[in-house]
Amino acid sequence: MKILIKNATVVFPDQTCVSNVLVENSTIVAVDAAEHARADMVVNARGLHLLPGLIDDQVHFREPGLTHKEDLAHASKACAKGGVTSFLEMPNTNPTTTTVQRLQEKLELASRSSFVNYGFYIGATPNNLVELQNAKRTPGIKIFIGSSTGDLLVDDQDTLERIFSETSLPICAHCEDEATIRDNLVRYGDRTDVAAHSLVRDHRAAMIATQRAIDLAVRHQHRFHILHVSTAAEAALLPHPSGLITAEVCPHHLFFNIDDYERLGALIKMNPSIKTAADNAALWQALLDGRITVVATDHAPHTLEEKQQPYPACPSGLPAVENSLALMLNQVAGGRCTIEQVVGWMSAAPAQVWQLDKKGSIEVGSDADLVLVDMQLSQTIDNAHQETKCRWSPWHGQQLTGWPVRTWVMGHEVFRLDDLKPRFDTSRWGSEISYRLAAV
Ligand code: DOR
Repeated sequence: MKILIKNATVVFPDQTCVSNVLVENSTIVAVDAAEHARADMVVNARGLHLLPGLIDDQVHFREPGLTHKEDLAHASKACAKGGVTSFLEMPNTNPTTTTVQRLQEKLELASRSSFVNYGFYIGATPNNLVELQNAKRTPGIKIFIGSSTGDLLVDDQDTLERIFSETSLPICAHCEDEATIRDNLVRYGDRTDVAAHSLVRDHRAAMIATQRAIDLAVRHQHRFHILHVSTAAEAALLPHPSGLITAEVCPHHLFFNIDDYERLGALIKMNPSIKTAADNAALWQALLDGRITVVATDHAPHTLEEKQQPYPACPSGLPAVENSLALMLNQVAGGRCTIEQVVGWMSAAPAQVWQLDKKGSIEVGSDADLVLVDMQLSQTIDNAHQETKCRWSPWHGQQLTGWPVRTWVMGHEVFRLDDLKPRFDTSRWGSEISYRLAAV
């Protein structure tokens, strides 16, 4: 099957220009094809931008075990609609993904239910070093250096030292300091308003844990990726001169701050907590000047009923995978950043950080994971039209300009906006991601 996408404004790694991209089966075979090149399907993309599919390297898709909140079928459909063609999923499912066997089971599950490409981290526990050493079909190791949803927590120093020194896969971590959180709970434990969450999981908690993880990575010369940076102080630690360390930020830490608790309540209760408007500004600055290189969602759905429980019982996490590209393209439309930067943060950089094979760029030989976006299209996010199983968004009611209108996964069209109505072809599954493992 050959598809010719012609007259698209293509965001290439080194330039953006109008071009004709030819796909054969699952691969990009030409990036400057003749306008009349033979193809089984021709897509006239005049006026639209063609981007490499997004890679979201931090999602919680809840399968197995928590499928009342989300599952791979719903979440991967939401990905297709949002222009996300590959995801890397976190291990805090039930059971947790903490053995090679469970990793394999998750991969098998995804091979039968994910409409986009998939990969799964292996989670660290205080006693699964051998599993971490033996895992292969994974981008890397996830450590919860601070507790969050689920019971995966490793904050004992000796265990952390051993994980950083005796494993070779890249490591990423959730950095919030447990001791600081415990102290803050003593101080703010009787508060019943959700804004207290940002006092309990405060700036110090984030900073202490991030510094601790950076110290481990540097001493053991271990490749390390800092997940969801939430404070100006952490951004000031970047880029680390060692070059070993990369970092990412999530849309909720760019767009929400503590002033939004009044409007959104527990919908924006997240770990790490959202911080201040000054942190929003500093995180944007760190993205724009290249200290933070990745934007990922930390898509972490809970049902609305769960979120409506009073604080502190309401769980932490929000869904975002379906709207993350539009949220960032809206910033392009508003002049804050360029479309090339968005492609860098959401596709090229995650492919580089996790050494994904044939992903993250529109080049001959790359996988045909592609998304067409319409930078003129304005739409309003509506809970009633969310594909994620929890069917709500903290951005409900927000109008955004710049939306994905067509998505291909390995050359297969999975989503198209047809007369403003989403159409899905869910007849084929995505593929397991492969890694050019470059352990440092
Ligand atoms: O708020 C969060 N919720 N942060 C995380 O890191 C995990 C997530 C979840 O799984 O619910």
